Amino acid sequence: MVANEQEFVVTPWEVRGEIDYNKLIKEFGTELITNELLKRIEKHTGELHYLLRRKIFFSHRDLDWILDKYESGEKFFLYTGRGPSGHTHLGHLIPWIFTQHLQEKFDVELYFQMTDDEKFLHNPDMKLEESLKYTYENALDVLACGLSPSKTFIFSNIEFAKTLYRISLEIAKHVTFSTVKAVFGFENNTNIGMIFFPSMQAAPCFLPCILKGKNIPCLIPAAIDQDPYWRGIARFVAPKLGYYKPAQIHSKFLPGLGKGGKMSASEPETAIFTTDPPEVVERKIMNAFTGGRATIEEQRSKGGDPDICPIYQYYYFLFEPDDKKLMDIYMACKSGQLLCGEDKARLAIRVKEFLIEHQRKRKAAEKILDKVMLRD
Ligand code: TYM
Repeated sequence: MVANEQEFVVTPWEVRGEIDYNKLIKEFGTELITNELLKRIEKHTGELHYLLRRKIFFSHRDLDWILDKYESGEKFFLYTGRGPSGHTHLGHLIPWIFTQHLQEKFDVELYFQMTDDEKFLHNPDMKLEESLKYTYENALDVLACGLSPSKTFIFSNIEFAKTLYRISLEIAKHVTFSTVKAVFGFENNTNIGMIFFPSMQAAPCFLPCILKGKNIPCLIPAAIDQDPYWRGIARFVAPKLGYYKPAQIHSKFLPGLGKGGKMSASEPETAIFTTDPPEVVERKIMNAFTGGRATIEEQRSKGGDPDICPIYQYYYFLFEPDDKKLMDIYMACKSGQLLCGEDKARLAIRVKEFLIEHQRKRKAAEKILDKVMLRD
């Protein structure tokens, strides 16, 4: 979970430092998505989604097995989620945009968990009602990504507790305190709610199997910070309960607008929230760190460094799906032709346009929200 104390940290609650994704793969014991695997996916989806082509989704567990099952006629379901501690930021959209793509191409159901219990338990100042309120706020962002209302089921852990609790109990019985300490770094002063919580996040891996009374393969798209739940809990318990081990496909992190580090709600000036008004988006982008030089003259003669620049990364992750145009931006920056001010201003326009459209879809989602919520 902690790859190297000095360099970087990746846990479900903290992502810090310059992440070496190759090291992380070794540490977590996952596999790189190979070109062969990409070809296999392409057979089913047509042209590869840019998030795969650019290896933003870069790692997996048992994705080849999921494809074996699919090709032999056994459909999988998708499972992903959100810890509703505040408004959604652009980083959260990465797994959801990809989930929407998978849902559409493979024509499969999605089970989406809102861990409002986790956010209440983990954040000292969080009130239960507040995290529940964000469940509904964030669910609008999820739906705005274009998920199928008839194949998407969203649930709050607080409100869907009766069904989830029974599954969590079955899981919890097989997981010791020393396991969760080792997997999540819990200590003696961790509250007991958090110690039980991993069994709640593992429960949806088996939920559709219980609802439908048969074993169904599960694929979880998420950034790699959520991996401990699958590695340490769900995959360990699955065979004991008679279910398939859930498969995963992991993404890298959209960085924040500052120097290094992932986009995180705890640093609001370097995060863009889906509810931010245009002038706020503009301010945040215009104040961002870049890979540019100290002066215009130096930038023109030596060029900038797009590899360390969050502005370039935003094009790469979200705002320029055309590879050729992306390469043009890269080269213009490196050659000194493109100055940071222009680059930021162009990105700000793109992000503002994207958010106007997202906010419109978010509003439209209010009408279908109730229909997609599972309650018991
Ligand atoms: P949460 O709310 O921290 O994050 C929601 C989803 O967004 C991903 N993510 C990011 N992806 C790319 N760039 C970033 N900067 C970035 N920051 C966060 C996370 O990996 C996650 O996929 N406990 C979970 C909620 C949950 C869940 C799940 C997530 C419950 N069940 C199943 C994934 C799969 C949480 O607090 O996520």
